[in-house]
Amino acid sequence: MRSLGITIISLVMILGGAALLAAEDEPIGNLAEVMRAIHFPNSNLLFDVQTADPGEPPPADEEGTSTTAMFSGIYKGWQVVEQAAIALAEAEPLIMLEGRKCENGKPVPTGQEDFKRWARALTDAGKATLEAARKKDRDAVIELTNNVAGACEDCHTKYRRYQDRCRQ
Ligand code: HEC
Repeated sequence: MRSLGITIISLVMILGGAALLAAEDEPIGNLAEVMRAIHFPNSNLLFDVQTADPGEPPPADEEGTSTTAMFSGIYKGWQVVEQAAIALAEAEPLIMLEGRKCENGKPVPTGQEDFKRWARALTDAGKATLEAARKKDRDAVIELTNNVAGACEDCHTKYRRYQDRCRQ
């Protein structure tokens, strides 16, 4: 028992050390990869509220043994909406992380005032959506998806255009 305790403590220390290292580390993905991983799926979970009421029981579990099928039902309903709002509200430091590049190799234009403003607008939209989701206010969440989509679109209109993507 004693040695199990020590093993667990060492494991916690090793994992803790790894987390510290990762926090100071270089960015891992380019901005497009971060957006595909975090912004795209989570904003779609919010947009889904327009067509599916998170307060309704989810459809019967689908058959399947894939990891996605097995875990898809663990977090349900409003909790999923809250989590998606948190992901978007917390993502600003990832957009602004020093040293990250865009897919074309240019640095992410974090020095531009409008870029910063739109990154912040997404944080604000995420926070407001979280508040509405905690109140289980579907109409308010639907209304706020305009702010979420607006922040994505404003920034993309200037900085995601194919020809001059991530211009400084
Ligand atoms: C502050 C600016 C900004 C905001 C806000 C923003 N994006 Fe982006 N997004 C970009 C830029 C710039 C790129 C291009 C990155 C690259 O080329 O590496 C991009 C790329 C993407 C891509 C990858 C496109 C591809 O080529 O496959 C997706 C998907 C995406 N964004 C989704 C979103 C969504 C959804 C939101 C809102 C929830 C959002 N973004 C908010 C600036 C932004």
